[in-house]
Amino acid sequence: MSEAAENKAAKRKVILTGDRPTGRLHIGHYVGSLRERVILQNSGEFDDIFIMIADAQALTDNWDNPEKVRSNIMNVALDYLSAGIDPEKAHILIQSQIPELPELTQYYMNLVTVQRLQRNPTVKAEIKMRGFSEREESEGTPVGFFCYPISQAADITGFMGTIVPAGEDQEPMVEQTREIVRKFNSIYGETLVEPEILLPKSSSARRLPGTDGKAKMSKSLGNCIYLSDDEKTVKTKVMSMFTDPGHLKVSDPGKTDGNPVFIYLEAFAGDDAPNAKALFEEYAPDYQNLEEMEEHYRRGGLGDVKVKKFLNNVLQETLRPLRERRAEYEKDPDRVMQILKEGTGYAENVAANTLASVKRAMRISYFSV
Ligand code: TRP
Repeated sequence: MSEAAENKAAKRKVILTGDRPTGRLHIGHYVGSLRERVILQNSGEFDDIFIMIADAQALTDNWDNPEKVRSNIMNVALDYLSAGIDPEKAHILIQSQIPELPELTQYYMNLVTVQRLQRNPTVKAEIKMRGFSEREESEGTPVGFFCYPISQAADITGFMGTIVPAGEDQEPMVEQTREIVRKFNSIYGETLVEPEILLPKSSSARRLPGTDGKAKMSKSLGNCIYLSDDEKTVKTKVMSMFTDPGHLKVSDPGKTDGNPVFIYLEAFAGDDAPNAKALFEEYAPDYQNLEEMEEHYRRGGLGDVKVKKFLNNVLQETLRPLRERRAEYEKDPDRVMQILKEGTGYAENVAANTLASVKRAMRISYFSV
């Protein structure tokens, strides 16, 4: 790279992040990542923003159900757009439509050992969860799945991503990417940029539990509140949420720690929520902030129904603008497809440039100078 090009590359700030389209996105995705993406998008600080619908990665553990992945591309696109991702400011793209990514993956595969992949804690946990471990009834781990951290490094570097806003579970992927970048640059010369992960600030936003109090929201457990849920559904789910099982009478002191209702409130009406103050003024004027409400609950005298009603108001208020935007886009699926097509087209150009630099660095561009 020339010095001028190097300076330019060093200064560029590019966001790359994405989601597997295996289901509709829920409020855990919203506080864990979507809300922050929209703030970053609107900060004007970034030279480029790429949001990837990682369908090829989704197929690494859904190869037998491509229809599930296909049908969720539209769902996830609608979730993004309704959350406030603005196609004028961010490129939404479909991973499988960019053949430069698997090509980059192939060259990166030479730089990663099987042993290194086996140590990746997220992959380890997923192998176990999906029953790919070496057991009699299992056929084992598909190679495509095993290698997805390498393909994710191609996703990130392909668009010269420098910032990856994502959850904690993505840390090993970004670390793996950094290792690949360092190795590539040291063997073939300075070409790629090391990315950094950007984690959500608070622990409540990092991992929102299910409505049943289980550690994670998951479709199969039926404990999610979806961004696309209507008002009535959200209310029903909130009112039947798990709370502190020891809090039987209103006058009993209650626990706020580990109480999912309060964890949700921390994420949506705590210090991290941009509109926390207004929410208290409007829906719980007896308290200045969440801390005061929590103290009351711990002291005793504050009933679960009251807290849940407040949470319901908070969620409805937060989701209202999303619902309005979704209704607009839902009316016009062709427009959504056009947004995806344009985002993907733009992204492919960028990935093609990266691939060209990679091949040049490796001195395998035999037919071009
Ligand atoms: N692995 C991410 C997930 O499970 C999805 C993803 C694919 C991604 N490529 C990415 C995230 C690149 C950040 C950067 O949701």
